[in-house]
Amino acid sequence: METVVSGIRPTGNLHLGNYFGAVKNFLKMQNDFNCYFFIADYHSLTTHPAPEDLHGNVRQVLAEYLAAGLDPEKATIYIQSDLPEVAELTLLLNMNAYLGELERTTSFKEKARKQPENVNAGLLTYPVLMAADIIIHHANKVPVGKDQEQNLEMTRKFANRFNRIYDTEYFPIPQPFNFGEALVKIPGLDGTGKMGKSEGNGIYLIDDPKVIRKKVMKAVTDSGPTEPNTPVTEPINNLFTLMSVVSKPETLEFFKEEYSKCSIRYGDLKKQLAEDIIIFTEPMREKIKAIAADDAYLRKVAEIGREKAHASASKTLKEVRELIGFRSF
Ligand code: TYM
Repeated sequence: METVVSGIRPTGNLHLGNYFGAVKNFLKMQNDFNCYFFIADYHSLTTHPAPEDLHGNVRQVLAEYLAAGLDPEKATIYIQSDLPEVAELTLLLNMNAYLGELERTTSFKEKARKQPENVNAGLLTYPVLMAADIIIHHANKVPVGKDQEQNLEMTRKFANRFNRIYDTEYFPIPQPFNFGEALVKIPGLDGTGKMGKSEGNGIYLIDDPKVIRKKVMKAVTDSGPTEPNTPVTEPINNLFTLMSVVSKPETLEFFKEEYSKCSIRYGDLKKQLAEDIIIFTEPMREKIKAIAADDAYLRKVAEIGREKAHASASKTLKEVRELIGFRSF
């Protein structure tokens, strides 16, 4: 059976981008693959979270994973920092990761621009830690959104390089995965770019209906098409993209037709979109709250996950040490 690995940083509540870029596929894949889904708390340290916030954020993502339908009986669900083997494998991979290639990654350049006061080495080696996460369980498939494409490319490079240096086929070369479709990019509501935690434009699974309506009604639009069949502008296309994931196909068709006939009313489009997002997130909203309050359950899930993930990771480390040439006396 093929192995699947993916993770999400605990930097706040999950938004629709996380859901449709990642979690939706986790749910489908847990039935058919050997899955490892984790919470990337080591990675979140690159942005220096306050110690008093870190654990709460991890708990929140764990509760959201479970409320969305991840099943600890089907998938191994764990916390990244519960696996010190990941840190050791990162150190070993770092020896064959080169400054130039790390400095050239788009996400490093972007982060360095966004947080010039904190361009730490963890940001630079972020793709190496991510490669360790993935190959430590010998993943074949990695369900992620489009923004992770370059990181995945780096993982493939590091896995290939390890195999070449140590003259082995030890690590499979993992593929980014979305059931044969292109990787997903869910846009924000601010007219341009993707939905993101740091972009501050997210609609969260936990947002209540009032908040969702307010956010959607404030979405950026334009002055509207003036001639039939005008190409759809980016802000409106973004609303259509959101509609394509939460609404019925005929609803989207209706508004697209209205657009091409120049009779679209953006107020109606937004109202419909808001209601469809509310209907979509409703079943998760209450569950998230209930599960987040259930300490004993969360602890149990994290413990079971840690044990299973540890068994896989420690076996890999033992074998990797052997391949590299470490020998015990
Ligand atoms: P993170 O925490 O930023 O995002 C988690 C997942 O959500 C997806 N995503 C999106 N997909 C579509 N549209 C969006 N607007 C959108 N925003 C976020 C991301 O693509 C991702 O799949 N580096 C990773 C975490 C990570 C990881 C890994 C992932 C660490 N190690 C190993 C896979 C495998 C990250 O920061 O994702």
